[in-house]
Amino acid sequence: MAKQLNRKPKGKIGNRPDESVRVLISHANIRRRVREIAQDVRRDFPDEPIHLIGILKGSVFFLADLARELGGEVSFDFLGVSSYGHGTDSTGEVKLTKDLEVAIEGRTVLVVEDILDTGLTLKFLIKLFEERKPKHLRVAVLLDKAERRIAKVNADYAGFTIPNEFVVGYGLDYDERYRNLPDVCVLQIGPCTKSKAQ
Ligand code: PRP
Repeated sequence: MAKQLNRKPKGKIGNRPDESVRVLISHANIRRRVREIAQDVRRDFPDEPIHLIGILKGSVFFLADLARELGGEVSFDFLGVSSYGHGTDSTGEVKLTKDLEVAIEGRTVLVVEDILDTGLTLKFLIKLFEERKPKHLRVAVLLDKAERRIAKVNADYAGFTIPNEFVVGYGLDYDERYRNLPDVCVLQIGPCTKSKAQ
């Protein structure tokens, strides 16, 4: 479930005619940037098998596209987490809901996340994975809401720095909806407005 805001956007969740989206990052721009990230990763690890770990569920499209752009030997696995409130008064507690299927010890691991927001999830993940002694541990995020950061963490590879707006699409949801949009969009609760894609 999306948890980018301290509170959900105002408005009735079920009142769908009142929800509208405007494109923030077009699918074409996403694909171009994913290709660049893959090139950066392969520049850093030209000959290594790379083991991707997708954090469910938002990362699935980013992981799928990144895996196909990487080339070379690539494998992947998924991890599920849930957290309890990401407001400034949050404890930052993160709970593991689905563990990995294969061990990562000695592997070159790339954690794949759709969005880096407060950083509390990533801080938890980095500690969890480091304890399992991978050969290398790197993090790729498609979207970075840098101004929302609470935990001192950064991604090694970041697609786009975005403003503090509620985004959906390309894996990101609102109430489990909108994940299937090809673009990253800003969700608005209220009358529809139009704007140009980046
Ligand atoms: C999102 C995202 C990260 C986390 C980032 O997951 O995929 O895991 O929030 O937030 P943080 O930096 O504030 O910790 P979400 O809980 O929305 O789950 P989902 O991927 O299943 O939608």
